[in-house]
Amino acid sequence: MQVIRTVQAMQQEHTHWRGKVGFVPTMGYLHAGHLSLFRQARAENDILVASIFVNPTQFGLHEDFQRYPRDLERDLQLLDASHVDIVFAPSDTEMYPQGFTTYVDPRGPLAEQVEGAMRPGHFRGVATIVLKLLQIVRPDSAYFGQKDAQQVAVISRMTQDFNLAIQLHVLPTMREPDGLAMSSRNSYLQAQDRAAATVLYKALQAGQATFMANSPDGPQAVRQAMINVIAREPLAKLDYAEIRDPGSFLPLETLQAPALLLLAVSISTIRLIDNFALIADGTWNTGIFLTQEHF
Ligand code: PAJ
Repeated sequence: MQVIRTVQAMQQEHTHWRGKVGFVPTMGYLHAGHLSLFRQARAENDILVASIFVNPTQFGLHEDFQRYPRDLERDLQLLDASHVDIVFAPSDTEMYPQGFTTYVDPRGPLAEQVEGAMRPGHFRGVATIVLKLLQIVRPDSAYFGQKDAQQVAVISRMTQDFNLAIQLHVLPTMREPDGLAMSSRNSYLQAQDRAAATVLYKALQAGQATFMANSPDGPQAVRQAMINVIAREPLAKLDYAEIRDPGSFLPLETLQAPALLLLAVSISTIRLIDNFALIADGTWNTGIFLTQEHF
């Protein structure tokens, strides 16, 4: 496995490659969710590139950029064990040198509602870094997790808007045995918070059951079912409970698949997000190919 630190060296790699190139961008502190992306990408490509870069531009001023967990040594061992060929791990100044000026600025409900409303500028940072990484690595395919459903939708839209010839793959959310979605931020949770954090999964299950029951109160009943479960957990504070169209992120008018149930909840001070994609036939109306669905 090769570890590359500079943009120039990474761009030169392309000249030696033969065959299909798969790419998995990450911010490191790897867990089984990331590993599932490497596994799939490894199986489908000749060359597998992963990146580790904690992207400062996608964190708000009062967010956790400084204390975001980092452990490159451990990550490199996991990447090696996942048979990654090349790890791109640039410094902040390598990606954002002095004079950096140009951002990708996604607008509209897709980027400015739900998570976008809670974290202004977040998807601008995500879209900017993902476009840069795709330009530097130039893969045939890139792999993302359904865990960050709105991120995937924003990136999918960007690849269409900028006519990028890249196939996106969206893989199901990997969970702990009790349902908690794996996340690098779970490492912040103290024991008591960790137990309370299962409330997100329970709330999504309640929302899904209400969806399946086709409640006459429609989407509002699904939201309320999620809100009620969160309200019963004293350590949990709800940011949002939404049911949205997975392509546009506009609110759903009726209970019809495809639908996304979306939750953001703070447990003590730790903010967690999760979602269920409720999909009738395994395809997504954004044109993204969903390899597998998972509730
Ligand atoms: P990061 O949070 O490290 O996640 C990297 C990739 O792993 C993302 O596509 C994310 O959706 C996926 N992932 C995270 N948790 C997962 C889980 N439990 N199951 C399956 N996949 C999971 O997302 C980012 O980094 C950044 O925003 C990035 C795209 C790298 C841009 O900076």
